[in-house]
Amino acid sequence: MVSFLILAALAAAGTASFEGNINYDSPSFNHAVLGIDVPKVKARHLEKRDYTGWNTSSLNFTHGVASGDPYPDSVILWTRVSPFVENDASNITVEGTVPLYSHETERYIRASTRPICVDWRVSANRNMSGAVVTTGRAYTTSDIDYTVEAKGLEPFTSYYYQFNVCGAGTSSPIGRTKTAPAEHDETPIGLAVYSCSNYPTGYFNAYGNAARKDNVDYVLHLGDYIYETRAGVLGRDPRASNPPRIIFTLYDYRTRLAQYRTDLDLLLSHQQFPWIPVWDDHEIANNGWRGGYSAMNNTEESFVRAGGISVDQRKMNAVRAYFEWMPIRQASLDDNLRIWRSFKMGKLFDLLMLDTRHYDRSITTLGWNNNYIYNISNEASRTLMGSNQENWFYRQLSESAQRGATWRIIGNQLVFSRINTTSWFGTFENPYNGDQWDGYMANRNRTYQHLFDNNIGNNIMLAGDSHANWVSDLVWFDESDYDPATGAGAVGVEFAGTAVSSTGFGRNISQATNQSRYLVRDNSELQWSEGYYRGYFELQISREKIDASYFGCPTVATRNPFELSLANFTVMAGANHLQRPVAGGTVESGYLQTGGVRQTNLTYNTQTGQYLYTNYSQMWITYPPAT
Ligand SMILES: *[C@@H]1O[C@H](CO)[C@@H](O)[C@H](O)[C@H]1NC(C)=O
Ligand SMILES: *[C@@H]1O[C@H](CO)[C@@H](O)[C@H](O)[C@H]1NC(C)=O
Ligand SMILES: *[C@@H]1O[C@H](CO)[C@@H](O)[C@H](O)[C@H]1NC(C)=O
Ligand SMILES: *[C@@H]1O[C@H](CO)[C@@H](O)[C@H](O)[C@H]1NC(C)=O
Ligand SMILES: *[C@@H]1O[C@H](CO)[C@@H](O)[C@H](O)[C@H]1NC(C)=O
Ligand SMILES: *[C@@H]1O[C@H](CO)[C@@H](O)[C@H](O)[C@H]1NC(C)=O
Ligand SMILES: *[C@@H]1O[C@H](CO)[C@@H](O)[C@H](O)[C@H]1NC(C)=O
Ligand SMILES: *[C@@H]1O[C@H](CO)[C@@H](O)[C@H](O)[C@H]1NC(C)=O
Ligand SMILES: *[C@@H]1O[C@H](CO)[C@@H](O)[C@H](O)[C@H]1NC(C)=O
Ligand SMILES: *[C@@H]1O[C@H](CO)[C@@H](O)[C@H](O)[C@H]1NC(C)=O
Ligand SMILES: *[C@@H]1O[C@H](CO)[C@@H](O)[C@H](O)[C@H]1NC(C)=O
Ligand SMILES: *[C@@H]1O[C@H](CO)[C@@H](O)[C@H](O)[C@H]1NC(C)=O
Repeated sequence: MVSFLILAALAAAGTASFEGNINYDSPSFNHAVLGIDVPKVKARHLEKRDYTGWNTSSLNFTHGVASGDPYPDSVILWTRVSPFVENDASNITVEGTVPLYSHETERYIRASTRPICVDWRVSANRNMSGAVVTTGRAYTTSDIDYTVEAKGLEPFTSYYYQFNVCGAGTSSPIGRTKTAPAEHDETPIGLAVYSCSNYPTGYFNAYGNAARKDNVDYVLHLGDYIYETRAGVLGRDPRASNPPRIIFTLYDYRTRLAQYRTDLDLLLSHQQFPWIPVWDDHEIANNGWRGGYSAMNNTEESFVRAGGISVDQRKMNAVRAYFEWMPIRQASLDDNLRIWRSFKMGKLFDLLMLDTRHYDRSITTLGWNNNYIYNISNEASRTLMGSNQENWFYRQLSESAQRGATWRIIGNQLVFSRINTTSWFGTFENPYNGDQWDGYMANRNRTYQHLFDNNIGNNIMLAGDSHANWVSDLVWFDESDYDPATGAGAVGVEFAGTAVSSTGFGRNISQATNQSRYLVRDNSELQWSEGYYRGYFELQISREKIDASYFGCPTVATRNPFELSLANFTVMAGANHLQRPVAGGTVESGYLQTGGVRQTNLTYNTQTGQYLYTNYSQMWITYPPAT
């Protein structure tokens, strides 16, 4: 609030001020080389005397609105306002080093660095009528690809918000958001949980379905919000990737994010719900770790192949574009581009959002080293989270229990439970997926050790990344006795969710069910496995229990609002395992530890547009080679 009072005073004096827009801080507050040098941005406008503004009729809100990272008294609001739909292509990292390589570019860059002014206001009414709850003004420039973020709201309430071009009639769509509950509040809360939305492999129906039902308060995204890879031919294939290449530069990452933000269901979800997202590997590149990616080593050869972009530069480009485009707060980004952070959701739960992917992670499976990773997976020195984050994580778990929060909900990327994948893609010699927690056993042991030593219960681990559904009791094998029949011996529950659109277990449901049957057989704590449907899950959290509902999209090959209820689970407070009979004894798809699956035989009627049967849930586009 204070920052907006200061801002208003400066604006009245006729000088653009940038403090109201936290995107200028990304990805670093303190090092201009990692972010934007705001004093220089200001000086540029003073020198050129071009802060008088734009022809406001040329400015548009190009990618809707979004909100996120709710606190009891504030939430982040986001929009993008620009004279261009096209993303800024200057790839500027340090002011003054802009390569002016052509007359055309010179003209473009000079024109586009002029600041754009927007006013935002927040109302308690859907139609923005009545008293304005709070309001503010912010500036944006091409330095941050024209995005805007602003904050300053009152506690636990739904609000509506809208941006306007200063002094003009152009308005953004109206968004809805919600602040977090007050610290001692125990009001029930609903979450929709997503991961792995690959634009070329299907429509994001899952996002729209939760928005249309309107059953939840917040959306969690556990990463793989975008993919860095390339698929299809632009102009020919409806969801071919843009830019049409594997992405490396700041411009590339901005353009890819902007393309994803054209999916109507994603836009709807952002407009309706505050999001709390974290990244997984593909926000930067596949199978990330502290030294590179599966297709990029920290070597001169990789540097040359990437067109002169290093591992670190690529990461900075991706992270900066991510912070420009996502409605999130900055954690301490000077700390190795940190994103991990936590939220107190009343007294009901603490939400810990981890980065098990890019923050100081020991080497992972990169294709050529998978057996080696298996051999070292039990090394005590290996860490998935980095020691700084690990210590924070254990401390947060303790503090959460001490403050008496009922639940600890951990938003994490990778499947936490030990999974023998021999029947799927593992081998008898190497049964585990070394890219998940199974490749970092010591880190997992330290987590269990901390929970057992401190007698911390009611732990709910969430995961994405795997493109399949996995519901397990949290079991520390060899250390505590576990009874798969009753759940005794577990210390919580893992709900791992399938992908919004990335491909899953199989091309037909019998093959996928077969797969689940073997996985459940080989893993006693895995109570339900399902890998056929694309979708998401919802959690309804209260003091007494958590209900988890999994949903599947009949197909993501078209944009449609259909979904199936796949399975329902309950965890009673204090039980620390799934309630028996698990899933009430029967599920729609996949396989339960206890058996029990009914399958609706659906048929798609092209006349009525109703799904009655489908033998595919995924798009499975086979792209012909580019000509
Ligand atoms: C402002 O832009 C609009 C739309 O692009 C155009 O019609 C109008 O002539 C412009 N006004 C000025 C003063 O340039
Ligand atoms: C802005 O919106 C106007 C009116 O819809 C449209 O004519 C113009 O092309 C848009 N400009 C951009 C950059 O999207
Ligand atoms: C920024 O990167 C894009 C490719 O990602 C390239 O086309 C463009 O020329 C670059 N801009 C500058 C100013 O180097
Ligand atoms: C706006 O919303 C308020 C309450 O939400 C309602 O009373 C009013 O009629 C609405 N106005 C319009 C123009 O829809
Ligand atoms: C990375 O290095 C490994 C080991 O030298 C090699 O097998 C692999 O092909 C390299 N990958 C790339 C993309 O250069
Ligand atoms: C892994 O360990 C086995 C058994 O010690 C050994 O035979 C194998 O060569 C090792 N593989 C790698 C890639 O290190
Ligand atoms: C993993 O499962 C396979 C069957 O698919 C079984 O033969 C093997 O013993 C299991 N491995 C471990 C380590 O449990
Ligand atoms: C982790 O715990 C498992 C038992 O679940 C044990 O087999 C393994 O040796 C432990 N590894 C480390 C590094 O502590
Ligand atoms: C499902 O896929 C498997 C493996 O490709 C194939 O063997 C089987 O015939 C298919 N079943 C149906 C019903 O299409
Ligand atoms: C199911 O698995 C068995 C054993 O691996 C295999 O023989 C059968 O073909 C599979 N069925 C389908 C539909 O994939
Ligand atoms: C899950 O619960 C809902 C609401 O009670 C019910 O409509 C749905 O059929 C259940 N789904 C399954 C697979 O049992
Ligand atoms: C599902 O229904 C269709 C159409 O009635 C039928 O052709 C098909 O064999 C059925 N599939 C199964 C697995 O029962």
